Amino acid sequence: MGGRGICHMRSASFFVVLLVLATIGKPPWAGAHGFLCENFKSRADRPHSVSITEFGAVGDGVTLNTKAFQNAIFYLNSFSDKGGAQLFVPAGKWLTGSFSLISHLTLSLDKNAIILGSMDPYDWPITDPLPSYGRGRELPGERHQSLIFGHNLTDVVITGDNGTIDGQGSIWWAMFNNNSLYHTRPHLVELMHTTGLVISNITFKNSPFWTIHPVYCNQVFIQNITILAPLDSPNTDGIDPDSSTNVCIKDCYISTGDDLIVIKSGWDEYGISFARPSSNISIERILGRSKNGAGIAIGSEMSGGVSEVHAEEIHIFNSRHGIRIKTSPGRGGYVRNVYISNVILTDVEYAIRITGQFGEHPDDNYDPDALPHINNITIRDVYGIGIGVAGILEGIQGDSFSQICLSDILLNVTAAEDSSWNCSYVEGYSCLVSPSSCQPLQQIPRDSSVCYAPADYLAPNCSSSTYVELASL
Ligand SMILES: *[C@@H]1O[C@H](CO)[C@@H](O)[C@H](O)[C@H]1NC(C)=O
Ligand SMILES: *[C@@H]1O[C@H](CO)[C@@H](O)[C@H](O)[C@H]1NC(C)=O
Ligand SMILES: *[C@@H]1O[C@H](CO)[C@@H](O)[C@H](O)[C@H]1NC(C)=O
Ligand SMILES: *[C@@H]1O[C@H](CO)[C@@H](O)[C@H](O)[C@H]1NC(C)=O
Ligand SMILES: *[C@@H]1O[C@H](CO)[C@@H](O)[C@H](O)[C@H]1NC(C)=O
Ligand SMILES: *[C@@H]1O[C@H](CO)[C@@H](O)[C@H](O)[C@H]1NC(C)=O
Ligand SMILES: *[C@@H]1O[C@H](CO)[C@@H](O)[C@H](O)[C@H]1NC(C)=O
Ligand SMILES: *[C@@H]1O[C@H](CO)[C@@H](O)[C@H](O)[C@H]1NC(C)=O
Ligand SMILES: *[C@@H]1O[C@H](CO)[C@@H](O)[C@H](O)[C@H]1NC(C)=O
Ligand SMILES: *[C@@H]1O[C@H](CO)[C@@H](O)[C@H](O)[C@H]1NC(C)=O
Repeated sequence: MGGRGICHMRSASFFVVLLVLATIGKPPWAGAHGFLCENFKSRADRPHSVSITEFGAVGDGVTLNTKAFQNAIFYLNSFSDKGGAQLFVPAGKWLTGSFSLISHLTLSLDKNAIILGSMDPYDWPITDPLPSYGRGRELPGERHQSLIFGHNLTDVVITGDNGTIDGQGSIWWAMFNNNSLYHTRPHLVELMHTTGLVISNITFKNSPFWTIHPVYCNQVFIQNITILAPLDSPNTDGIDPDSSTNVCIKDCYISTGDDLIVIKSGWDEYGISFARPSSNISIERILGRSKNGAGIAIGSEMSGGVSEVHAEEIHIFNSRHGIRIKTSPGRGGYVRNVYISNVILTDVEYAIRITGQFGEHPDDNYDPDALPHINNITIRDVYGIGIGVAGILEGIQGDSFSQICLSDILLNVTAAEDSSWNCSYVEGYSCLVSPSSCQPLQQIPRDSSVCYAPADYLAPNCSSSTYVELASL
């Protein structure tokens, strides 16, 4: 129970910290390290550009323009070896069914352009399940194809002057809620096996299911986007990097019904045999709320493994969970080398939650002895007000989650202090945590390198608190 005295002293200046965080754009601890985001270079303009109107599209919100999108993209294929091309969508409401992108393409929306997803499920064709899931996520068998889809591509950009892609998902949510779906709901945007994906300066609304799903991708850069869906819409995750590597997500506002950003890598025996991990995932400056999910989450599908996840400057408000890791016996795989820092939580029910018994299996053929390995999880510099429960850290019997490291965590918890952390089958370290963290997490030793930190980042140091430095500014 170390650090209690220091923590109480620190509480007095709690609001000074929030004030400092709120008034300076880039606080001093926001290092210039950003290990993937900094290296990204935006694509030069495409030498060729066409407008969707040249292919007969009508922006009246009523005419179905699926053929126009497909024809335009088919035409632009001939420029893919000439520096690529841009498909421009001007102001208007462009109703469409699902269409597929090509390599070296920029889909660019004008300021008042709105792409509307058709409300007829037949305009969202059926496609194969993902090999790493073995079936649709919601129902066995095939699934609906996303509104904007792509497969085996390189160098794809989806951007705009804050134009909007609106999935009009209400019909899908209703079918989910009344159990009348025949196939798993579609994502709004899904790119598979794609290298070099940029999504920026654009708004996504009302996805039928997860909003943006890069799966089996490499080099994904998502910046300055807004994602909106009603808070009670089912499973409308924001961004789900899935079996993908070298992903940077930054400067986004996300408000949806489920997890805002959630990293995945396949499901039970299918994910284990497909064995495609997610790694090198960088997340910076995210603001948002999730009524039923978490701000930053990993899992519950993580059977291919998840590693090298780095999130910082995260502000979550009015949400169920702040930071969450979800897994279960049967998943196999691992989650390791995760570093989450500089988090502000406002009115969040559970600040930090690690769940080892999430359940949800694709079928009865999963191996209950395939236990997930969770270790090297560092969470530091977290400030919360209006917190229900500080943390539930629940490992698996015979498979303790290890090297869980918490430091500089200051939470104004509304529940009774003795129930504010509940830990089972976890091992690790903590310091400067208020309310005091649970017994299994020992004081961080003098050689604080026991706690995971990415290259260029300092390991938590119990004798030099970020909090104290900020408060004395
Ligand atoms: C926690 O929040 C309550 C209600 O806003 C406030 O009265 C109290 O001073 C806060 N406690 C600390 C330690 O900041
Ligand atoms: C994508 O590439 C894989 C492997 O290279 C191939 O098997 C598959 O048919 C391709 N899919 C499409 C739609 O081109
Ligand atoms: C973010 O996108 C908006 C349009 O959506 C644009 O006006 C703004 O300049 C962009 N900011 C950055 C930092 O890219
Ligand atoms: C973009 O549009 C969304 C939704 O209309 C809005 O909430 C957001 O503030 C806009 N962003 C910018 C940078 O204008
Ligand atoms: C379920 O909801 C869909 C979409 O609103 C509707 O078309 C369908 O009739 C409903 N089915 C039942 C059985 O209520
Ligand atoms: C997003 O907008 C900003 C500001 O206008 C611009 O600098 C940046 O290049 C845009 N991103 C893309 C991919 O067009
Ligand atoms: C992750 O990033 C490191 C450092 O930049 C790099 O060496 C490694 O190859 C990357 N991993 C993958 C799977 O791309
Ligand atoms: C901690 O969690 C366990 C298992 O979920 C539960 O039985 C117990 O009541 C909890 N303890 C407290 C103090 O909340
Ligand atoms: C866990 O983190 C420690 C401290 O950064 C590091 O030395 C070790 O290699 C990590 N373990 C794995 C399996 O990467
Ligand atoms: C921790 O911080 C103290 C005070 O700033 C410093 O003297 C010490 O060298 C630091 N320890 C490590 C391991 O960085």
